[in-house]
Amino acid sequence: MSATPAVALDEAAEATHRLETAEHVTVTPLGNALGAEIGGLDLARPFTPAELEAVRAAIQDHHLLCFRDQHLGSDEQVAFSTQLGPLEVFPEQDKTKGESTVYNVANVSPEGEHLPVDDHRVIYQKVNARWHTDSSYRYIPSFVSIMYAIRVLPDGASGGETEYSNMLAAYDALPDEMKARIEPLHMVHYYEFGRRLFPELPPVSHHEKVHVPPTCHPLVRIHPDRGCRRSLFFTTNAGNEVSGMTMEDGVALHRKLASHVSRPEFCYKHRWRPNDLVLWDNRVLMHRAKGYDMARYPRVFRRTTVAGSEPILGPYSQAVEGKVRPLTAA
Ligand code: OGA
Ligand code: MN
Repeated sequence: MSATPAVALDEAAEATHRLETAEHVTVTPLGNALGAEIGGLDLARPFTPAELEAVRAAIQDHHLLCFRDQHLGSDEQVAFSTQLGPLEVFPEQDKTKGESTVYNVANVSPEGEHLPVDDHRVIYQKVNARWHTDSSYRYIPSFVSIMYAIRVLPDGASGGETEYSNMLAAYDALPDEMKARIEPLHMVHYYEFGRRLFPELPPVSHHEKVHVPPTCHPLVRIHPDRGCRRSLFFTTNAGNEVSGMTMEDGVALHRKLASHVSRPEFCYKHRWRPNDLVLWDNRVLMHRAKGYDMARYPRVFRRTTVAGSEPILGPYSQAVEGKVRPLTAA
């Protein structure tokens, strides 16, 4: 009789402790460039305030988080994702299943059919093979994307990874003259660019046209949450034009930047295991899907996206006037 209250007291003390700290959450870096594996959390259960704080801090420090062995249905993924903020509604009505905040990143239909390589839903996946940051074609691009692995390539099959590149590090490593050159530039981002890459896709719908018209973002992004540090911010799957430059000069500059961000020292390549949940910070990373034999291997992910909260700021944005350090002379 005496043991029971003691145990109950210990449990209560532990529960209180968990509310205040998240010491059970482990953070193990995945490489030198970016990324960490997070242990100690079951994402099917809501976070405690301390856990949410720990996850937010890990996003800020590592930019990509991988949670292994998670078991999430669609509703649970939406509930988990919403803890980080309101979700984006995808403009592609035909690519979503059920609620439009959930997106099938798959070469398999919602009904389970392994789709032929010329199916539009498979061609959409190929657009992801180019370096990009999700929903940069929006005036307010996304905060984080969340992908949950349902079917992945078997061990030994080549490709199928997702590769990420750190835009803070890539910017820092640019030669001074390139930093000076791109400082005032903007790029046009537009959803319809995927049709230029793959003209066999059907034209964009009226719904897509009115929800995501072309927009412009600075090439150099300022991060007020990081002491107004600079990063690169661009895309190669939603545009290749630099505002105010001739097509030829702009495309040449764009190519140079795309090749720069591919340098291995900025990159981490994620080889997926089933039940991995990976989230990444689109504010500071680019990513691309590595090619694989789409006719042979089914590959199925479920994606949700947490919306961004403000337009992209550049070095000349009024909102950061006087707060951005001048560039050192080249
Ligand atoms: C995406 C994406 C990468 C992949 O869904 O936005 O880029 O590896 N996916 O499928
Ligand atoms: Mn993407």
